[in-house]
Amino acid sequence: PPTEPTSPPEDLVADSFAFAFDIDGVLIRGGRAIPEAVEAMKVLNGKNEYGIKIPYIFLTNGGGKSEAERCRDLSKQMEIDISPSQFICGHTPMSEMATKYGTVLVVGGEGEKCRMVAESYGFKDVVTPGDIIKHNSATTPFRKLTAEELANSRERDFTDVTIDAVFVFADSRDWAGDLQIILDVAMSKGGRLGTTSETFDEGPPIYFSHSDVLWSAAHDDPRLGMGALRGIVEYTFKEVTKGKTLTTHAFGKPQIGTFEFATRLLQRWRKNEHNLDSPPETVYFVGDTPESDIRGTNNYNTQAKNDWYSILVETGIYQQGTTPTYKPRNTVPTVLDAVNHGIKREM
Ligand code: G3P
Ligand code: MG
Repeated sequence: PPTEPTSPPEDLVADSFAFAFDIDGVLIRGGRAIPEAVEAMKVLNGKNEYGIKIPYIFLTNGGGKSEAERCRDLSKQMEIDISPSQFICGHTPMSEMATKYGTVLVVGGEGEKCRMVAESYGFKDVVTPGDIIKHNSATTPFRKLTAEELANSRERDFTDVTIDAVFVFADSRDWAGDLQIILDVAMSKGGRLGTTSETFDEGPPIYFSHSDVLWSAAHDDPRLGMGALRGIVEYTFKEVTKGKTLTTHAFGKPQIGTFEFATRLLQRWRKNEHNLDSPPETVYFVGDTPESDIRGTNNYNTQAKNDWYSILVETGIYQQGTTPTYKPRNTVPTVLDAVNHGIKREM
């Protein structure tokens, strides 16, 4: 008699819990994988004593390239396939503002990458500092565009251009030049370059993709991040306007909106990838920076429908033996220990 065709066994998937990972200082350090992170990914993908797969997403404050490009890099580093559908970087939530503004100034990152990312998000008219310097090279006395930058920047007459918002997408490669241009816009009459407001309260909104003053890169000690530039912008605005306050806005962790965005992403990812309809009871968030990762997770936990459980690792900003400014639910040496801790609590 004909035998029934055998279908491959279904994957066992954990439905009651999930993980969310910070990247720099947890999985990556200066562009290289932290070795335990590669093993942790294997554990999540079934190399555990239960043979169970555990859903996970990534939530980094970093940025500067498209989500697809960053996931290609991360896939190589972590030795697994990582999809943009399970990934949020600092500027990802900025995509929701693409239709809100006409002309925007996009700052940061390598070459034209951030302009391209902004345009892919749907921003209609994207200006870069390079365009402004190309139009008037006296804008930044010590910053000269390279031949490549000159070729890539867009020719534009800024006389009638109004900048409706400023978005700092990624770390500035030229703090002095970018500071000058951001301040020129902030002090202008309603975002028109070449004008100076009399009241200094009519500049367009300024958004930073995150506010980390420090981050964990290749150097042994933490390096200055976008939050430092944000502080310098606000400080200098006050100096040059003789006391006016500039209020800027930040995306990224620890902002609650970023965790809400992550919750929606995790819900879609669990549904589409694992066919899970209901939200997990617990989300383990693994981070290295108390001020953004632990603070954000703990704050979000007070209002989230499920339990957001913060785990601090010792491979990045936080140093073993010190007291973290925001207290995690658990502290462990590496991300592999964090994954094992979550599994042990659940199973
Ligand atoms: O610039 C990136 C950095 O500030 C933090 O990245 O992955 O630790 O959130 P991450
Ligand atoms: Mg980090």
